[in-house]
Amino acid sequence: MLNPPNSQPMPESMTEATVSAPTAAAVPRARLAGARVLVVGDVMLDRYWFGDVNRISPEAPVPVVHVQKQEDRLGGAANVARNAVALGAQAGLLCVVGHDEPGERIITLLDESGVVPHLERDPDLLTTIKLRVLSRQQQLLRVDFENTPAHEVLLASLARFDELLPAHDVILMSDYAKGGLTHVTKMIAKAHAAGKPVLVDPKGDDWERYRGATLITPNRAELREVVGQWKSEEDLTARVTKLRAELEFKALLLTRSEEGMTLFSDDGILHASAVAREVYDVSGAGDTVIATLAVMLGAGLSLVDAVALANRAAGIVVGKLGTATVNYDELFL
Ligand SMILES: Nc1ncnc2c1ncn2[C@@H]1O[C@H](COP(=O)(O)OP(=O)(O)OP(=O)(O)O)[C@@H](O)[C@H]1O
Ligand SMILES: [Mg+2]
Repeated sequence: MLNPPNSQPMPESMTEATVSAPTAAAVPRARLAGARVLVVGDVMLDRYWFGDVNRISPEAPVPVVHVQKQEDRLGGAANVARNAVALGAQAGLLCVVGHDEPGERIITLLDESGVVPHLERDPDLLTTIKLRVLSRQQQLLRVDFENTPAHEVLLASLARFDELLPAHDVILMSDYAKGGLTHVTKMIAKAHAAGKPVLVDPKGDDWERYRGATLITPNRAELREVVGQWKSEEDLTARVTKLRAELEFKALLLTRSEEGMTLFSDDGILHASAVAREVYDVSGAGDTVIATLAVMLGAGLSLVDAVALANRAAGIVVGKLGTATVNYDELFL
């Protein structure tokens, strides 16, 4: 199952490891129900406006959309937490929202989702919202609102983290570079001191701030930004090994879209091939991957078993339109 660190170029000639995931008997529902995941990070609201276009505006050469329907979905860290709950685990969400309409909407959707909200409110914050305007299945425009939470609010969030830490088994940092994880280095150190694993979905090129994380889960572009373009699998392994040593990451899981995922740890390298039968919607697959990993580690599974299940979950979620979550039955039965 484990490939030696200096294996052949991948994916063509690398021995494809058949990663066998544990069965439902080995991972009963009750075991997942006991897993307590704390998600910390940037929440956002994904909003969709659907309408018809029948004319061009008299004001400028742009289409006029007559909006007929609005749909809202939890995004970012909230989507990650929702994925943990869908698997049957307990998830708390620590984040900052504003006193605005998108903030209220996020609170309502969280209430419906079963995620336990631990929200800091910032009256001056524009809650992150990504508004898409669509007509006939085509996206015409995306409009983003966001700014950075205030210093005091972020400090309050750090204090809240201290209170929440003892009641959780695993900590998950969902970074979308909106400022919610300003104090991530301190949070990782505190979790480490408390003996709790910390999983990080990174953003940006400064990974020093994630120092000491148990597991970091970049996609290809995110890793490339930090270690540069690799020329072969051997070169990739060398770059990742150096990075892990420098920043004290216990493990790194590279998600590689259609090429599946590769785990780098002290035990060697494990590659899991993508298992999707059909691919409809790949957005949010990364959220499902890290949520599944956190739930399984929180339930006491090994990292290798957690990766096998996360890979299976990713294969399921990319085959779905709409709901970007996977439930227990879909994963095990
Ligand atoms: N086109 C695809 N075909 C098969 N499997 C896929 C595909 N895209 C994604 N996956 C599965 O989903 C996992 C995560 O996808 P990816 O590496 O694209 O993460 P990501 O870029 O973080 O996703 P996100 O859009 O959520 O940010 C992959 O490791 C793979 O298992
Ligand atoms: Mg991602």
